[in-house]
Amino acid sequence: MKTIVKDSLTSKVNRILPFLEKNYDNNLESDYTEKIEELDKNFNYKSNSNHYWSEPEQSVLYGTPLYEQASPSQKIALNHLHWVGFYKVVADSETELTFYNTITADCLLAANKDYAFIADMLNHETYQERKHIHSFAKINYQTIKALLGTKALINSASDNSTSFEPKSFHVIDYLLNTANFIGKILLRDKEQNYSQKLIELQDLQDLNKSIASSTPVNPTSPTPTSGFFNGYLGNTDTSVRKFFPLSWGSYPFLAANFYVVRYMANLVVKNNEFEIHKYCRKLQKAKDFIPAPTAISHYHFLDEAFHTTTSLYLARDFYKSLPKPSNFEKLMANLAVLQTQRENLNGLSGMIPNRFVSDSNAISFIMKLLQSPVFDMSQKEAIHWLEKCLCYEHEGFHNNLKVHNHLLANMQRFAEDIDYLWSVNREMRLMASAGSIKKALNNNIKAFKKFSSTIEK
Ligand SMILES: [Fe+2]
Ligand SMILES: [Fe+2]
Repeated sequence: MKTIVKDSLTSKVNRILPFLEKNYDNNLESDYTEKIEELDKNFNYKSNSNHYWSEPEQSVLYGTPLYEQASPSQKIALNHLHWVGFYKVVADSETELTFYNTITADCLLAANKDYAFIADMLNHETYQERKHIHSFAKINYQTIKALLGTKALINSASDNSTSFEPKSFHVIDYLLNTANFIGKILLRDKEQNYSQKLIELQDLQDLNKSIASSTPVNPTSPTPTSGFFNGYLGNTDTSVRKFFPLSWGSYPFLAANFYVVRYMANLVVKNNEFEIHKYCRKLQKAKDFIPAPTAISHYHFLDEAFHTTTSLYLARDFYKSLPKPSNFEKLMANLAVLQTQRENLNGLSGMIPNRFVSDSNAISFIMKLLQSPVFDMSQKEAIHWLEKCLCYEHEGFHNNLKVHNHLLANMQRFAEDIDYLWSVNREMRLMASAGSIKKALNNNIKAFKKFSSTIEK
């Protein structure tokens, strides 16, 4: 009986590996990364500054009362800032990935030499991410400098105003603490397949340095990243979150589980990027000028299609060929997905389309934008408009709710095939419950009150 089960698992993985190999071959034959490199090399903001880089719907403040009043040049600036803000998070996430791809590849290779080509493939994807990150960082730098000024650039290195704030203590932190403790007890004797990279790192400090130093922006002075996987890096706290990289790099089942989280990130990127890809095709068809950032999004969309396929096979199918997970491994895998929902998909923005965290942590960015040369408002005017956009229902919320629901349906379709997930993860319940304009407004009103009281003091 045991042999039959084993054979059926082996045949399952045998069916998956050729798909992965084909995907890898297709990626190797493509030249999208080279095209991105070329566009990156020749990028100059001025030559792209008078054109939309995506549809107007993909603009900061789209659907708000302020957007209605904005001038044509302000609308173009808001469109560019949406591109830049979105790819700031993508670049941060991909910087984090250069580390996670490596430790999970090491872990799988240590478990079985037959997975060597998977490690090669992940290595190649990491190489491509470095090229992507470089192009996003270059465009980000020139655009922010041109639109918001050098001051905004200096400030943006030390705050997370276009991204996520450090997270507060939550019941999940308690669970993570517990899981850490349980893990140490239960698995003390269990054979692990430690990633060589993890063995080389002495502590969390080294872990963060190792990830941050891969950023091409300023390798001598690494700044913390704020990407999709940020919660697992422990930038601001924490001894508990380091357990995610440790377990993803140590247990083959959990290495495969990492690709559930990576696939979720792939879906978030695709949700926005597919629209830019369509916009690029529209310009191509009409033989119109194609701004370099639009073309980079188009080629990045095509490059990422290979990575998305890799994530899908590793996340949804590959784990079935591995030995059955222990209860601890299942617990950690579920906490990782729950944490991903909580960190990245637990809100609804009314001011920044395709953003699914609370607007409360975009307040400082919006204030900076309103007082920048783009709008040139006084502090009083800026607060007045901030309140109008943040605390009152408008089209921005309704538009983003539609985008949210589309992404949610894709997340649920994916998660329902993964049998070890708890229902809160399989149904993406945290994300689903955040899809409420009423909830978003209530949170925003609280955040605005808190913010304006600190200003008045
Ligand atoms: Fe990428
Ligand atoms: Fe990727």
